[in-house]
Amino acid sequence: MENETKLTAGAMVTFAIAVSALVILPYIQVRDVKPPEGLKPYTSAELRGRATYVANGCFYCHSQQPRSESFAPADAKRGWGRASVPGDYYYDKPHLLGSMRTGPDLLNIGVRQPSKDWQLGHLYQPRAYVPGSIMPAYPYLFDVKDQADPGEEALNLPPGHSPAGKVVVPTPEALDLVKYLQALKRNYPVLPPEPHEAAGAKTSAAPAAPQPRPAS
Ligand code: HEC
Repeated sequence: MENETKLTAGAMVTFAIAVSALVILPYIQVRDVKPPEGLKPYTSAELRGRATYVANGCFYCHSQQPRSESFAPADAKRGWGRASVPGDYYYDKPHLLGSMRTGPDLLNIGVRQPSKDWQLGHLYQPRAYVPGSIMPAYPYLFDVKDQADPGEEALNLPPGHSPAGKVVVPTPEALDLVKYLQALKRNYPVLPPEPHEAAGAKTSAAPAAPQPRPAS
């Protein structure tokens, strides 16, 4: 019986340590995070676009978490933007951090590629813009018709990519998805605490002046 008691007590202590480290401490770290000044809540069109992004599994190939230059210098060199901070995700429920980078990180795609024409055409046929791209095409987010109805805007595809004698018109899903992509902009300034300062390496009486960070 003694062994069973020890086993049960050991299992419960291990479980408690795991819950504290993986659930309680992270919750305490982020519960008071406020949205940065430059971050706007999503509009309803952007939220519908976000749902289309989720439904089509874009996050299987695209992350939304540029990393710090010291940790992953390539992220900044590729123009993916500054390292993200918890506040950047204030309005993201659920967050779409992603774990695979088959394609580029998209947290700042609205800064990098703001063109609606490019985004729509690229969704219709990625290879019309990036030869050899392995991103799937999403033709079902578009209608192919003889001519655009009043109020509709046909795509401006690169030569050779429109179906012969027809026009390609985006569906409302495609338009909302592109609005969501255009809203992915985390290029406002943030002042995350420097990890080495937070660790208390220096304890000087005068508070250090905040260091402005490049807003890219
Ligand atoms: C099978 C993996 C895969 C999936 C799924 C995927 N992509 Fe991509 N995506 C890529 C790759 C690879 C590239 C780089 C080549 C290119 O630009 O076509 C890319 C590029 C992009 C770019 C341009 C990025 C830049 O920096 O120029 C955007 C925007 C984009 N994808 C959006 C989407 C959206 C929206 C979806 C979902 C509807 C999606 N992707 C689904 C693989 C994927």
